Amino acid sequence: MADKITLATLKKLKSQKQPITMVTCYDFASAVLAQQGGIDSVLIGDSLAQLMLGHSSTINATMEIMVALSAAVRRGAPDVYLIGDMPFLSYQVSIEKAIVNAGEFLTQGSCDCVKVEVDHRHLPTVSALAAAGIPVMAHLGLRPQSIGQIGKYAVQGKTAGAAMELAELAKKMEAAGACSILLECVLAQVAGAIAERTELPVISCGSGPECDGQVLVWHDLLDLPGAGTSKFAKKYANIGAQIQQALAEYVDEVRQKRYPQPEHCYNMKPEELLKFKEQLQKSDC
Ligand code: KIV
Repeated sequence: MADKITLATLKKLKSQKQPITMVTCYDFASAVLAQQGGIDSVLIGDSLAQLMLGHSSTINATMEIMVALSAAVRRGAPDVYLIGDMPFLSYQVSIEKAIVNAGEFLTQGSCDCVKVEVDHRHLPTVSALAAAGIPVMAHLGLRPQSIGQIGKYAVQGKTAGAAMELAELAKKMEAAGACSILLECVLAQVAGAIAERTELPVISCGSGPECDGQVLVWHDLLDLPGAGTSKFAKKYANIGAQIQQALAEYVDEVRQKRYPQPEHCYNMKPEELLKFKEQLQKSDC
């Protein structure tokens, strides 16, 4: 049996300069495959609002669905380090609400950690979550829940000033008690400098190779409907096309009456069939 991956495992990987592997997952079957594939950590991202529910933004993810699917993912992947993504307005309204909601990810969602999208305004929240004993990953850089304030989907940390702000924020998050950092769409050099200056495992989402690990979104990695087109979203397989082809074959076989074949059927024993036919004849049906 494989060992359960913990925060200590991730820190050890960082100290040994062994890259941490992370992928998003939103359901039981994908989680089984992720663990079988040797993934260290799974993030139940709020990107599920777009990829599983078809919304155009992540802000439509709700606590109810995030926690239910976290529990499903945990049932599929009992050994991975599981991170629950706190949805829009689950931690911004008040610190009390943030603690209660984060607690739900741990108790009902069976997560090891929660992730929150942060800027300097969220330092008290991160600090309060940590003080409540809740492991919290600070998500810096591009923060899709705040895209209305950020302005547009763009790479972060482009100027020396912007890069310094990110580096300082990462240190402040560490001091506030964050247990790990995720950098989304941060310039590779800036992300590398941040990872080098913190004890915390730093995961890159499109932030280059100098971080302590990488995360990719399930649908991007496997090229499923909804897959992104960002240059970091490398496709490792074309599963969407394979599913499409399998479905087209199925439709064709059913229409051509080539499915099901005898080997796909449950057949009655001949003596029972005889009796059944006799009884049918005598009956009104
Ligand atoms: O929800 C998500 O998919 C994310 C990404 C950063 C991986 O938060």
